[in-house]
Amino acid sequence: MILPIVQEGDPILRQVARPVRKFNRALRKLMDDMLETMYDAPGVGLAAPQIGISRRIVVADVGEGQGPFFLVNPEITERSGSQEGYEGCLSVQGWVGEVERYQRVVVHAWDPYGREQWIRAEDFFARCMQHEVDHLNGILYKDRATRMVRQRDEDDERAAAEREG
Ligand code: NI
Repeated sequence: MILPIVQEGDPILRQVARPVRKFNRALRKLMDDMLETMYDAPGVGLAAPQIGISRRIVVADVGEGQGPFFLVNPEITERSGSQEGYEGCLSVQGWVGEVERYQRVVVHAWDPYGREQWIRAEDFFARCMQHEVDHLNGILYKDRATRMVRQRDEDDERAAAEREG
């Protein structure tokens, strides 16, 4: 089921989301719906506050053949290096921004069945992880952007670099 995506201005995007405590069928259904919504948008990451649910849940798939990822209560436990690049957000339509992020991160999370997972992410995947965990803490990428640029059209040079989360 494709869910409506909340847009900037909705206070839920500024709340600190609460941890998930029950790993049940409802959680798995929600995460399947989130993934479907993300693919439909299309985007490479989606956090539960973006579909109006203030819980610490993220789905992500940056391509590269290793996704999709289903992350419950994710936390970044290691950070190193730095990278500059553009990112966009499904909740901030019409803009992209240049954001400095860590080059590599390790994310600790649970899967929808309550199994612990550790994910090593680099480059764009690491950027995506940082962007999505920020959503769970009420932070939008534009808070961190050094430059915001209007997204003009598909042929825009920046469109290639831009990904939506
Ligand atoms: Ni986003």
